Amino acid sequence: MTKIVVTGGAGFIGSNFVHHLYAKYPDYQITVVDKLTYAGNLRNLESVLRSGRVTFERLDICDPAIGDAFARAEMVIHFAAESHVDRSIEDAEAFVRTNVNGTWNVVEAARGHKVSRFLHVSTDEVYGSLGPQGRFTETMPLVPTSPYAATKAASDLLVQAAVRTHGFPAIITRCSNNYGPYQFPEKFIPLMIVQALAGRSLPVYGDGQQVRDWIHVSDHCRALDAVLHGGRVGEVYNIGGDAERANLDIVRTILKTLGRDESLIEHVTDRKAHDRRYAMDSAKLLAELGWRPQWNFEDGLADTICWYQANQAWLAETRSGDYRNYFERHYVHREKTFAL
Ligand code: NAD
Ligand code: DAU
Repeated sequence: MTKIVVTGGAGFIGSNFVHHLYAKYPDYQITVVDKLTYAGNLRNLESVLRSGRVTFERLDICDPAIGDAFARAEMVIHFAAESHVDRSIEDAEAFVRTNVNGTWNVVEAARGHKVSRFLHVSTDEVYGSLGPQGRFTETMPLVPTSPYAATKAASDLLVQAAVRTHGFPAIITRCSNNYGPYQFPEKFIPLMIVQALAGRSLPVYGDGQQVRDWIHVSDHCRALDAVLHGGRVGEVYNIGGDAERANLDIVRTILKTLGRDESLIEHVTDRKAHDRRYAMDSAKLLAELGWRPQWNFEDGLADTICWYQANQAWLAETRSGDYRNYFERHYVHREKTFAL
């Protein structure tokens, strides 16, 4: 069995990636390391935790004792982070702690156990904001705007320093805005779906003309898989969805799909220093590893809306906060390492 450690595997992208790995690699033993902050939800992993091939360890990546979880691991994929821009504007402390100090702690733990591959999952936000033309390429300077993006840029630099200084076998990916199943409804697309489903107002920041490059989370997972297994150590790979859309257009599509009126749109105070446009050039990933996104955005969005409609129990538990008791209900009486 090949052991792979997935940090942040109870979050949105991490849990989708665990499902991807589980389905595709029957000989992988997957260890999920996650603190279960407000963004971590073990329900996301319920079906695979029953298999015995996926184990869960509730650990803070800042904990110096985290190393034990990496024993005999061949690969590590590092998702764990504070990920919401608005929260970082309110208070960046947890972002500095987890994204910067925590990442370094994970790097040191992985290095100590001589893992053969380390994939650091980063973001297009490290490049800052674009004007109306052009796309982000891997060689662009890092000019992050928000405290979140600044901590991700710092973590990228630390990982690169470990590669150069210690020959650490790391690769970095930078992806655009994800959407899809299990996304916590504080983020734009699930929030708008939830509000529209309930007939409540949809808060659009400023004029709503900010542009993001949207990618279905399953396309991101396929890209991460390709890089993890075939990428070159020390390299950075951009991952984008080839789907630039303005926020207001997305809101209108969601309302139309759910048969709701546009009068539900409410323009609210803009985010501070709101990045105007992101767009990714993923040509390197296509050229080296043959990856390209498979989802068309409108199909992916329709599929995602269906997922939220079909998973009302998950949504209700997430909104009520009850999902946070799941760990205690199912695991508290067991050992520190769990498999249902
Ligand atoms: P998320 O907020 O849904 O999940 C983060 C996970 O990390 C949660 O399970 C949380 O419990 C865990 N975590 C947080 N602090 C921790 C700590 N100190 N110790 C252990 N676990 C901790 O995030 P996401 O949207 O799934 O993003 C995952 C990664 O991908 C992040 O690194 C993020 O920067 C990056 N990323 C996200 C997007 C996006 O659109 N969501 C795009 C590009 C890159
Ligand atoms: O680009 C990748 C990044 O995408 C990731 O690194 C981050 O972890 C992820 O959170 C996301 O950051 P954004 O700030 O782009 O995503 P968010 O969903 O918060 O917002 C998307 C756009 O929608 C942005 O222009 C702000 C706007 N917005 C957001 C919310 C929550 C609104 O207009 N109203 C809202 O209520």
